[in-house]
Amino acid sequence: MIAGNRSINYLRISVTDRCNFRCRYCVPSSPFSVIEHQKIARYEEILKITRLACELGITKIRITGGEPFVRKGIFSLLRKLCALDALEDISITTNGSLLTQDKIKELGKMGIKRLNFSLDTLDPAKFISITGRDKFHRVWDSIMNAHQLGISPIKINTVALGGFNDDEIEAIAGLTLKYPFHIRFIEYMPMGNSEVEKKQQILTRQIQDKIISTLGPLVPVEKGKNDGPAKKFKLAGAKGIVGFITPISSHFCSECNRLRLTARGTLRPCLLNNYEKDILSPLRRGASDRKLKSIIKSTLVHKPLFHCLNDPKAGNIPISHMTSIGG
Ligand code: 5AD
Ligand code: SF4
Repeated sequence: MIAGNRSINYLRISVTDRCNFRCRYCVPSSPFSVIEHQKIARYEEILKITRLACELGITKIRITGGEPFVRKGIFSLLRKLCALDALEDISITTNGSLLTQDKIKELGKMGIKRLNFSLDTLDPAKFISITGRDKFHRVWDSIMNAHQLGISPIKINTVALGGFNDDEIEAIAGLTLKYPFHIRFIEYMPMGNSEVEKKQQILTRQIQDKIISTLGPLVPVEKGKNDGPAKKFKLAGAKGIVGFITPISSHFCSECNRLRLTARGTLRPCLLNNYEKDILSPLRRGASDRKLKSIIKSTLVHKPLFHCLNDPKAGNIPISHMTSIGG
């Protein structure tokens, strides 16, 4: 599928808007509602939409949430997705808190070799203050288990926040000296009304300066075929990679190859734009495969050329939170 001059081969599937964490930059600070059960896409519906999307050229998927592993029976969906021939690459973004050793083994057996963990601090007390949960050790154990069980690459997403984890940037980047992890610093995207203030945003340039001044030069690493928008670097002697995801300081919309399916069965051509198209209702009303495919294709016409996060006056800033769209 083509959107402008971008070839769309990557579908991010949010299987739930629920999460057992309450990360301040992700979950709204005011009371919020979750999607009612009957409005959430069922597994067979997700599978069907994915299969049709594959027929249109999707070869890569990522399962996201909320937290994917809070949804009951998620392994049955994953197994069926892994059986789709068209898919070359399946990965999952998780907070890691529900991943036991056995579950990681099961993922490996079904062919899921890549995991992205969200981890913003190495300090258990700060972990509570950002996620609202006392689960640092649980998450760290999951990462270590995944590493020992041969999951590779293990990517760690760290949202950089001034006054919160800016004093840990070097320690977090320094993990790559010891482990083959991809540590990815993500610029905070102001979305909805989560508690984090825009002034806590730290831009990649500042993070890089901190790393370079204590850990030495960051040498650029070539991008691979299936790589996402992270700009990748290596520290001297490192086993892993330090990456930067820069939605604010340098948007990568022109390279974006993604389409999103939300837990409520809408397609979103862009995380940072409110346009979405309901595909679940037509599917439930019995629309033909041809019709459903035309809905998927028509969504891409609305894929914007760039987002407006830096310029709210330009309009169309997102009113949904990451938990409800899927990061
Ligand atoms: N800005 C930047 N990153 C975010 N994430 C969630 N909310 C935000 C935000 N407002 C990240 C999480 C997770 C990934 C899916 O998205 O850290 O790793
Ligand atoms: Fe949950 Fe991830 Fe959002 Fe944190 S960032 S609340 S772990 S979905």
